[in-house]
Amino acid sequence: MRNRFVATVAVAAVAALGLAACGSGTTPEEPAAAPNTSLATTAGGAGGEVGVFTWWAAGSEKEGLDALEKLFKQKYPNNTFVNLAVAGGAGSNAKAKLASDLQNNQPPDSFQGHAGAELLDYIDAEQIEPVNDVITALGGDSVFPKNLLDRITVDGSIYSVPSNIHRANVVWANTEVLKKAGVNAVPKDIASWMADMDKVKAAGVSTPLSVSGTWTQVQLFETVLIADLGVEKYNGLFDGKTAWDSAEVKQAAADYKKLLTYTNTASDGDDWPVATDMVIAGKAAYNVMGDWAVAQFAAKGKKEQTDYQYFAVPGTDGVFDFLADSFTLPKGAKNPGGAKDWLSLVGSAEGQKAFNLAKGSIPARTDVPPTDFPPYQQSAMEAFKTNQIVSSIAHGAAVSLAWNADISQAISKFYTTKDDASLVADLTAAAKKNLG
Ligand code: GAL
Repeated sequence: MRNRFVATVAVAAVAALGLAACGSGTTPEEPAAAPNTSLATTAGGAGGEVGVFTWWAAGSEKEGLDALEKLFKQKYPNNTFVNLAVAGGAGSNAKAKLASDLQNNQPPDSFQGHAGAELLDYIDAEQIEPVNDVITALGGDSVFPKNLLDRITVDGSIYSVPSNIHRANVVWANTEVLKKAGVNAVPKDIASWMADMDKVKAAGVSTPLSVSGTWTQVQLFETVLIADLGVEKYNGLFDGKTAWDSAEVKQAAADYKKLLTYTNTASDGDDWPVATDMVIAGKAAYNVMGDWAVAQFAAKGKKEQTDYQYFAVPGTDGVFDFLADSFTLPKGAKNPGGAKDWLSLVGSAEGQKAFNLAKGSIPARTDVPPTDFPPYQQSAMEAFKTNQIVSSIAHGAAVSLAWNADISQAISKFYTTKDDASLVADLTAAAKKNLG
């Protein structure tokens, strides 16, 4: 068992440099352990069923997974792909099912896990195996960014294969609604953004900002934290350097409270497309959503600029609120050879192009040409290279599963009470509990 506090400090300290890590930061050239090398991919695949667990069960997310499945079948005809997806964005239902399957020693052959603190949970619990051999065969740090590999590496062992990188601090806006409201410029900060929301309301759209269930609210709140704290203090939230009851967090809680006055009434079961679709339909002006949303606009035939536009959450320009999906090799997987076939596909340039085109994310690999992607993803690729990188709370990059659960509980309670002093107190207690 690794020391949770030390590991979390490592994540945050290196994140402050824009290089978040969940491990020692050693490079893939120095693996301490690389078991299962005998299971290297063979032509046509290892054979047998390969059960892959995700929460990509519907819409554009399923299309991304389907694109991978199609290629998997072509490349590894000996294998049978078994889709074990559990519906619910951000793993809102899937993570509980996964936890109980892992607990009961019934792991899938591979499961989706977020690079960063969340992956560390599975490593700490000794539920996943190193996959250095797969990463090396895929090209190692000549094709995967070092700052990403660091987030999935502990003591030289690499524990997953990254499939993609998403950005969480994006506002998606309906062009027509903004035009009618006379909003012509991107707001610079949260206060001027809310002034624009007043204009939207005055123009007759009763929901300027759409939200869905709790995890989407956590994500919205994290972007307000980034805006009000700035990068350094935001990073400090995860290593104890920034107090959760500081003046800046209190300001963020007050801003978040005010932002919620511009939103629809969401129920906890609402998944993200409910809120994004409100923007697509012109029932809301804005939605803060990860860039899986761009795939939803595309799927509904909407055109960038004409129908929708996007910008960084006001106050977070130049910051990339990062998360990455990656796939694991669970301990005790029934078909580790088949799982490695899956991992090899997920990490290949061909797999990353097919998947990310459908998903809205950008490839984790650096050798997939940006020109293969539409303008949004090209801009995200550029931003990932040039922006300051911070870790998403809602999507497993910044905090452990347990801490995320505590933050989510506080945000969910706040949605009912609208008591920002209690929110700050609950968040402070959650940090104390989880940082020790
Ligand atoms: C995130 C995941 C993304 C996307 C999103 C919404 O946690 O990393 O790939 O699926 O949830 O479901």
